[in-house]
Amino acid sequence: LSGQLFWHSAFPTSEADAVFFGPDTYRFAIAIEHHLESHSKEVRRAVDIGCGAGPGAIVCALARPGAQVLAVDINPAALCLARINALLAGANNVEACQSDLLSDTEGQFDLVVANPPYLVDPSERAYRHGGGPLGAGLSLRIVEAALPRLERGGTLLLYTGVAMIGGCDPFRAAVEERIPEGFALSYREMDPDVFGEELEGGAYAECDRIAAVVLSVVKE
Ligand SMILES: C[S@@+](CC[C@H](N)C(=O)[O-])C[C@H]1O[C@@H](n2cnc3c(N)ncnc32)[C@H](O)[C@@H]1O
Repeated sequence: LSGQLFWHSAFPTSEADAVFFGPDTYRFAIAIEHHLESHSKEVRRAVDIGCGAGPGAIVCALARPGAQVLAVDINPAALCLARINALLAGANNVEACQSDLLSDTEGQFDLVVANPPYLVDPSERAYRHGGGPLGAGLSLRIVEAALPRLERGGTLLLYTGVAMIGGCDPFRAAVEERIPEGFALSYREMDPDVFGEELEGGAYAECDRIAAVVLSVVKE
């Protein structure tokens, strides 16, 4: 990914503490790179929520070597691999620490990035299960946790998957309800149809498709 090699769990990732690295990781990294190329605001502190093997944090750290970049995850195996991958990439401004979203971190951030789990996973693996309505629970919690922790001019960049129903986007509607005055939102579909096999039954019976989206919220 972006010229670096990453350690991660081998397929099949059936263990409860499997560390994800896959197609979403590549799309997430592209979204971060695009953001950093098009925003000149200085990044002094950044955090990657649900860092997994560390790709988001490492992409940020290499592009902004003067920044302090936190890589947080609830899975200790992910933090171990994120530390190894940061060393291998020469990203010595990455600090990996255990935290449930931002609850075990302090201070404000210029950039918060996340590629959280967004599916309904019957075995509730940490890398895959989003919880809440059709997997959107963790993504919505990230919006709520990140906005109060942004510096002025800071950005939340959230890459996630959304179960579309009846031609509508329930995640976008739920996010718009949560954006207070003084924050600017932009939202785009990056891939209209991912994890199509999930639609075959169970929780997704009423859904049209699952789309990969990029949400950006800037504190004005
Ligand atoms: C889909 S994986 C993405 C990993 C990595 N960001 C990437 O792009 O490859 C989601 C990650 O979120 C972590 N996670 C799940 N719930 C979390 C929580 N409440 N707080 C922090 N991390 C969490 C999982 O352990 C997993 O490593």
